Amino acid sequence: MRSKIVAGNWKMNKNLAETEALLTELAAKLPDTQAEVMVAPTFVNLAAAVHTLDSSVIEVIAQNMHFAESGAYTGEISADMLLNIGIDTVIIGHSERRAYFGETDEILAKKVKAALAKNMRVMFCFGEELDDRKSDNHFKVVESQLKNALFSLEASDWGKIVLAYEPVWAIGTGETASPEQAQEMHAFIRKTITEAYDASIANNVSILYGGSVKPANAVEIFGKPDVDGGLIGGASLVADDFVAIIKAI
Ligand code: PGA
Repeated sequence: MRSKIVAGNWKMNKNLAETEALLTELAAKLPDTQAEVMVAPTFVNLAAAVHTLDSSVIEVIAQNMHFAESGAYTGEISADMLLNIGIDTVIIGHSERRAYFGETDEILAKKVKAALAKNMRVMFCFGEELDDRKSDNHFKVVESQLKNALFSLEASDWGKIVLAYEPVWAIGTGETASPEQAQEMHAFIRKTITEAYDASIANNVSILYGGSVKPANAVEIFGKPDVDGGLIGGASLVADDFVAIIKAI
């Protein structure tokens, strides 16, 4: 059975005091929900976030990690460092990592394998750019992103994978994929996984939609049968908006 998930990707926002304040407000306002709720603050505030959410069901997750165990990788963070402060879920492959930090499918495949080797859960992000969609290549691009980073995994690894389809043209732009576009792509993703593995893996993996999800459009997007939740950027920085999105699921 796949789970419903609403995750907030805070990106490079919120200092320590702001992080603690937002998390305290979120924990207090968290509605009753079957969905898993996650937040990804910036690295320097992760340990404090875990502490602040000690008695909350909200899970703190990381925005990124390096594939090496340890060593001379200035500025990087390892899986063990995350596990050591109580974090066992990591976002890998966000389009901003791909676009601004040169993360290729090959690097992402290594990161996914490194996280799984430590028994971490991976929230793997992917999605086409506007030109891909305009030229009708969006299915091909998504298929190759999945294949290059994930399709060499063992079938048993898939229990630790969450997918986040995030069309790049919808991230932070205020432009959202229509619920129909999201559903169409999510169904295509399940079909692609069925062909590479089998229907049970495809049906059991949670596929989140990300890209300008707001309180005003969340109900419609989450209402689609193959959409299992959302990865939320901007709207996750405002407690009332994030709570409204959690209620939508
Ligand atoms: P957005 O970001 O909700 O601000 O569009 C989504 C994301 O980057 O995960």
